[in-house]
Amino acid sequence: MKQFTSRLAAFALFAIPAVTAAASITGVPFGTTTAGKPVKIFTLKNSHGMIVKVTNFGGIVTNIIVPDRKGHMADVVLGYDTLPAWEKSTTYMGATIGRYANRIAKGRFKLDGKTYKLFINNGVNSLHGGKVGFNKKVWTWSYVHQHGTEGLSLTYLSKNGEEGYPGNLLTNVVFTLGNDNALRIDYKATTDRPTVLNLTNHSYFNLAGEGYKTNLNHSVQIFANRYTPVDKTSIPLGYQARVAGTPFDFRKPHTIGQRINANNAQLHYTHGYDHNFVLDKPKGKLGLAARVTEPTTGRVLEAYTTEPGIQLYVGNFLDGSKGKGGKPYPFRSAFCLEAQHYPDSPNHRNFPTTTLRPGQTYRQTTIYKFSVK
Ligand code: GLA
Repeated sequence: MKQFTSRLAAFALFAIPAVTAAASITGVPFGTTTAGKPVKIFTLKNSHGMIVKVTNFGGIVTNIIVPDRKGHMADVVLGYDTLPAWEKSTTYMGATIGRYANRIAKGRFKLDGKTYKLFINNGVNSLHGGKVGFNKKVWTWSYVHQHGTEGLSLTYLSKNGEEGYPGNLLTNVVFTLGNDNALRIDYKATTDRPTVLNLTNHSYFNLAGEGYKTNLNHSVQIFANRYTPVDKTSIPLGYQARVAGTPFDFRKPHTIGQRINANNAQLHYTHGYDHNFVLDKPKGKLGLAARVTEPTTGRVLEAYTTEPGIQLYVGNFLDGSKGKGGKPYPFRSAFCLEAQHYPDSPNHRNFPTTTLRPGQTYRQTTIYKFSVK
């Protein structure tokens, strides 16, 4: 027994530091924007060698390097190698999206009786913050100790009237990497006038590694009984439809490819999955939203969020343009799980509110947790 306990103690001594050691974080210069602002890129590393890189340009998660079932590491998010390429990007890859993730119909909404007009950048609608969203802003940065580790804190003050939105909106986003191979993103925002907001992260994942030619083999499970059907311009029709009996039923795992070409008007409108799912988990509570598994590598991604919805977008607008290492990113070679409030909420009274008033604090947490199967 004694021998056993001392062995246990020796094991504990050996094992515990490795398991509890805080993730390390380092920052290096990443160049200068075309407007002349210096930018940095930060590397978060945990005790298992998982690496996440984030730049304060656009609050972009540029790399997520995780093991497969054999321990081989690969970068599982699409992106670019250099700042100029990130500046030119029009796909929102990896970025922090604001002020309003997803669409606002005709770029208009009414708040407290006043109509606000936004920049139209997506057909007839406003998408992902307008002309120059949070994804193109240079954020101020600092290191913070949070959730038992060192994290990167990014802050951006969006001035009253920016992109047509009211209120000086102060947004803070903290990225932490846990030893459970989970990237945690905590958002906070305050305003000095009533406004609307919807923040998200727009990472494009391919669990076989970025540059892998397809996502159709990924198996997806989304814990949602309902979704919000859209019109031809991707604006919600206003009601929640049951997923049962439709290609949107991911309550049990289905590959992305299995039903994507089904004869379904919703899928035709959006050229494949690009829809908001109404999550079953309790409102406002951090809970499991989705789980995705890639069969060849065994990599698994779980998305947890406090948000009421999640947008499954499967890269229907990717066109083979080149990314990291000159690799092409073809049609449907990645998927996004954008935790969010429902699209166009400011124009739908029956959707959970996206209004933020002075004195209130907006909070959002999303976790992307990686494992293998
Ligand atoms: C979101 C939208 C998609 C598309 C991508 C970016 O996921 O819902 O329609 O605009 O962003 O390309």
